[in-house]
Amino acid sequence: MQFDPWNPEFVAHPYDVYRELRDNAPVSFFEPTGQWLIARHADVNALLRDRRLGRSYLHVASHEAFGREPEPEFQEPFWRVIRAGMLDVEPPVHTRLRRLVSKAFTPRMVESLRPRVRKIATELAEGLAERGGGDLLAEVAEPLPVTVIAEMLGVPEADRHLLRPWSADICGMYELNPSLDVQHTAVRAASEFGDYLRELARARRDQPGDDLISALAQVADEGDRLTEDELIGTCVLLLNAGHEATVNVTGNGWWSLFRNPAELDRLRADPGLLPTAVEELLRWDTPLQMFERWVLEDIEVGGVTIPKGVEIALLFGSANRDPEVFPDPDRLDVGRADNPHISFGAGIHFCLGAPLARVELAESFGALLKAAPAMELAEEPVWKPGYIIRGLESLKVTV
Ligand code: HEM
Repeated sequence: MQFDPWNPEFVAHPYDVYRELRDNAPVSFFEPTGQWLIARHADVNALLRDRRLGRSYLHVASHEAFGREPEPEFQEPFWRVIRAGMLDVEPPVHTRLRRLVSKAFTPRMVESLRPRVRKIATELAEGLAERGGGDLLAEVAEPLPVTVIAEMLGVPEADRHLLRPWSADICGMYELNPSLDVQHTAVRAASEFGDYLRELARARRDQPGDDLISALAQVADEGDRLTEDELIGTCVLLLNAGHEATVNVTGNGWWSLFRNPAELDRLRADPGLLPTAVEELLRWDTPLQMFERWVLEDIEVGGVTIPKGVEIALLFGSANRDPEVFPDPDRLDVGRADNPHISFGAGIHFCLGAPLARVELAESFGALLKAAPAMELAEEPVWKPGYIIRGLESLKVTV
């Protein structure tokens, strides 16, 4: 098999192909997308920190000057929302936006949320156990991070069911060469989500609550530190990034444990291993398999010169299995001590929500281990078609 992100078989089992790439072609050109694939941990890690690359090039050049076509007109509402968030901008705008929200996500701030996260996780896990099982993904993995991030931002409970579909539709645009249909769906979702938040933020500006949207609406109101578009872009980003990957780490993580029953038994016997187990599950089957960067100046990677104007694709899933960094990398080891996985990224865009994700994952796995100590897989799960965001359709279990 070859690197083929559109092939369901590759999506289900990418790790042998990654090994081939690391061994024989660690920097290779991928014709169908015109990108250079980067397979080794050392290169991925270094390039994430390299300022000669960017998540965008629009801070240094126009589309034309960079030799790229501007996006089609119909995508404008999508990029207006997405490019206003910190993930798609570079310094100095990135620095300003990240600083405005980073206080809400410090380890200490997040630690204070733990009791609330634990309560939600316990209720969800006990509910699943009382029903004798069900779809772990829909009944535990999704509602936990959605509830937590919606509560932080102050999205009313009655509207929370909208977040998952909007996020999923927006994420469609991040897959490689999305179909026109998928693009239109993403544009529609981004503009609906943007409109919804614009209205909510205006309401909160007039009647503030004790939540992040109110706090940001206040900042936007005060002067020049945050425009309304940036406020909307930031909230969309926080709500989407704040649950999408966590849902899939939970689903992929349990599927990893079911495929490695000795490790699941080890964790059941010693829940003290939860912190290392969470890191290992993040490493072993990360839901974010690839992140892209634009080359802003010619660079050399592993003896290959990659010219300005090209896009590179950093293979996180491959970096996480690199034997140069992880002894016996294909082995799932819930007690793995030294685990510099790349699943939260590195450099200036390092995941802002990593402390929150860690709390949510530890509490969610912990609650399920406790409430459903004999939980079993009911049927073999199926992967969703996406590769860049790689998760399961569902995860049926019996308790
Ligand atoms: C296990 C779950 C999660 C994973 C694996 C994950 C992974 C990542 C990665 C890899 C990046 C960097 C992308 C890049 O460099 O191109 C990132 C950025 C980000 N993540 Fe997460 N994330 C998770 C959960 C969260 C949560 C719970 C939040 C909560 C708000 C969050 C908010 C963000 C934000 C705001 C950024 C952009 C940071 C910046 O551009 O400076 N993430 N995440």
